[in-house]
Amino acid sequence: MGHFKTLKKFFIEHKKNYFLGVMWLIIVDILQLIIPQILRTVTDLLESNSLSTDDLLKYAFLIILTGIGIGSGRYFWRIHIQGTARKLEYYLRNKLFSHLQSLSTSYFNVHKTGDLMAHATNDINAVRMALGMGIVMITDAIFITLAALFMMIKTTNLILTILAMFPLPFLAYTVQRLGKVIHKRFKFVQESFSDLSDRAQENFAGVRVVKSFVQEKEEIKKFKKVNQENFNKNMNLVKISGFLRPFVQFISALSYLIVIWYGGILVIENTISLGDFVAFNSYLSLLVWPMMAIGHVINILQRGAASMARINTILFKKPEIIESKNAIYDKTNINGNIHFKNVSFKYPNTEEYALKNINLKIPKGNTLGIVGKTGSGKTTLVNLLLRLYDITEGDIYIDNLPIKQIPIKTLRENIGYASQDNFLFSNTISENIAFAFDENIDKSKIYNAAKISEIYDNIIEFPRGFDTALGERGVTLSGGQRQRTALARAIIKEPSILILDDSLSAVDTQTEEKILNNLKRVMTNRTNILIAHRISTVKNADHIIVLDNGKIIESGSHDDLINNQNLYYSIYQKQLLEEKIQNI
Ligand SMILES: Nc1ncnc2c1ncn2[C@@H]1O[C@H](COP(=O)(O)OP(=O)(O)O)[C@@H](O)[C@H]1O
Ligand SMILES: [Mg+2]
Repeated sequence: MGHFKTLKKFFIEHKKNYFLGVMWLIIVDILQLIIPQILRTVTDLLESNSLSTDDLLKYAFLIILTGIGIGSGRYFWRIHIQGTARKLEYYLRNKLFSHLQSLSTSYFNVHKTGDLMAHATNDINAVRMALGMGIVMITDAIFITLAALFMMIKTTNLILTILAMFPLPFLAYTVQRLGKVIHKRFKFVQESFSDLSDRAQENFAGVRVVKSFVQEKEEIKKFKKVNQENFNKNMNLVKISGFLRPFVQFISALSYLIVIWYGGILVIENTISLGDFVAFNSYLSLLVWPMMAIGHVINILQRGAASMARINTILFKKPEIIESKNAIYDKTNINGNIHFKNVSFKYPNTEEYALKNINLKIPKGNTLGIVGKTGSGKTTLVNLLLRLYDITEGDIYIDNLPIKQIPIKTLRENIGYASQDNFLFSNTISENIAFAFDENIDKSKIYNAAKISEIYDNIIEFPRGFDTALGERGVTLSGGQRQRTALARAIIKEPSILILDDSLSAVDTQTEEKILNNLKRVMTNRTNILIAHRISTVKNADHIIVLDNGKIIESGSHDDLINNQNLYYSIYQKQLLEEKIQNI
């Protein structure tokens, strides 16, 4: 149970709710214990023929009153206990999400989105169950069991109580045992259902591919298979869950059997009254639920604790990229003089160097072009500059300060980064472009950024213009449109350092030329890094480096590199040729 310590603050804050909830629960339990007493009195009066119609009315009224009391009491404990459990779920989910946001990118390389989603749903649910229904069950199991047993022994008969109780522990045991199996099978059902819905979803999303490859029949066959699997899992579950209820009824019937037999004898012998007999049966029926609850609650608490432990491993995980002790907090601006000094870098848990011995200076206002094959280390260089990963060998200086002395917030706020994957959110286009800004920013700024990235004309052609939603329920942008939207998102920040990572690869050469022309204005007075595999993108840069296998193998201006007649030159020749072929 130590795992729940993480929630200590929450418990302390909400101890009043838990207290009130348990109090209402006990009030309900006490009221439930009154009903058998009323039944006893009524039966005894009936038997001795001394019940008047007025009395009957009085007792009927009393039963209704108790019923209303029980109903209201249940409402209040639900509000306090279940309500607080919901609050806990809300609290824990926020805590988990904020913590995950603080973790470094490398964490997300290792942990799959699906697993994280499972923690956010299943595990949080299990914790909620343990600290909601779990508390209810413990309270009921202890209180009703003790109180009912006390009443049975005190008001009726000890031996009858002992005999009637005999079968009941089997209830607790079976519910606990079967509950485990049922839960496991239920999980299989959930998993196979998630396979099923993944399959369907992917098929609808990829319907064009399916049709153009004439794979409908094949896909139907595959779907049938996962559907069958889901059916089988459901049947497996029903087979055992269907067994539980009849079994519970059978066990409680055994108890009733004993009571009718031995209790009947006691009534005939006049050891107990008929009213005692009726009340005893009524107490017995109250005991069935707490007996099941004991079995349930063991499972629920175990599951909750295991889930809490899994959530704790995330919550206790420390971010890898943290603010340095030497960070200069009042540095909120960056000029943009960049200096890489003997930088070598391996990704965590890898053997190969992604960058080797990089020495590089980019003065403020200059543009650096980086070309190189896929996997040569271009993006890695940028990752280090953004501190998405921390350097391990060598130094990076910005404005002559080691990069770690610049507050992370300052560093990232002053860099405009159009990343290679151009990830856009399922928001509107203007929300995507203005992603860096919290408050509503001037529309004209958004339009201006869109114009520079030559996406403005495309956007205003959509029926809802800049308010067009993207993603599942909105429009799908072409690769080039996505790139240009992501570019606008970087430009609008008016950053000191502007980085375009392969941001023009999906745009045609004419549009590229236009964008580069527009960018000229934007790029003055900033430090710019243009990563590209097209020479046309970088040829006007002040300085160009060619990366290969993590090393700088060539550097200089476009003219220098052409004169070198090396890799850059050969890429250039190849691309000229391609262009000529395209223009034929
Ligand atoms: N997150 C990562 N973990 C491990 N290795 C990586 C990671 N990202 C990139 N690499 C490796 O580092 C090398 C350089 O990659 P990258 O900088 O993305 O190349 P480029 O941008 O030039 O295509 C490649 O060998 C790549 O496989
Ligand atoms: Mg890359």
